[in-house]
Amino acid sequence: MSVHKTFRIRRFDPSNDAHPYWATYTIEAKPKFSVLDGLFAILENQDGTLGFRYSCRAGMCGSCAMRIDGREGLACRIRLENLGATISVEPLRSLPIVKDLTTDMTPFFDKYRKIDPFFVGDSPSFAEQTPEPLRVDPTQPLRQSANRAIDCISCGACYSACPTVASNPAYLGPAALNRAFALAADERDREADRFALISGPEGAYSCRSIGNCVSVCPAGVAPLAAIQLLRRGKSASAT
Ligand code: SF4
Ligand code: FES
Repeated sequence: MSVHKTFRIRRFDPSNDAHPYWATYTIEAKPKFSVLDGLFAILENQDGTLGFRYSCRAGMCGSCAMRIDGREGLACRIRLENLGATISVEPLRSLPIVKDLTTDMTPFFDKYRKIDPFFVGDSPSFAEQTPEPLRVDPTQPLRQSANRAIDCISCGACYSACPTVASNPAYLGPAALNRAFALAADERDREADRFALISGPEGAYSCRSIGNCVSVCPAGVAPLAAIQLLRRGKSASAT
């Protein structure tokens, strides 16, 4: 049985509109329709100018992150049957708007790149001292705490929900720091610049431990826990 759902969508085309505005559409929601299915119904049947981003439609790529009823989430994973008769849909915060629900992820990925989000191996001199590869014990507690961190799909939901990102544009944000932790938890990693950045004014100590990043993450990652472990690791290495 299909029901009617009303979408209130925050729209803004920077090339045409002076200000953002709300537009309202009512659709016939079929069983198991997601918010993304609802947006497609609007795009295909009511307004072909609506802008939004998606790719996998399976909760894996993170492209469809947006704010649904005031909370960050993946449009392809949230079912309309679990929402009320009227649903508000807005773009992610703290990112420039390309069009309507599509944001420019450049600031998010610029910060991600800043922490060198890749493994930096041993220097040749270290390799000479330890010719055998250093294996990480999978049962090691630090390695286990990194398991959760590596599930990040880079959707930007935590970045949007973080009040520190909103008030301090230099702050690296939960996703970049979470990635930094995943790398720092690998005892073979040797990236000194990343540690300097983490302990600087853009880094882990600017987090105010509010925890929105944890509650909105669709992948079950806990960036706040990663940031706290990063702080402890940094203070340990600084002493
Ligand atoms: S930590 Fe979670 S919310 Fe943040 S970018 Fe990764 S998957 Fe998205
Ligand atoms: S479209 Fe890939 S996560 Fe929603």
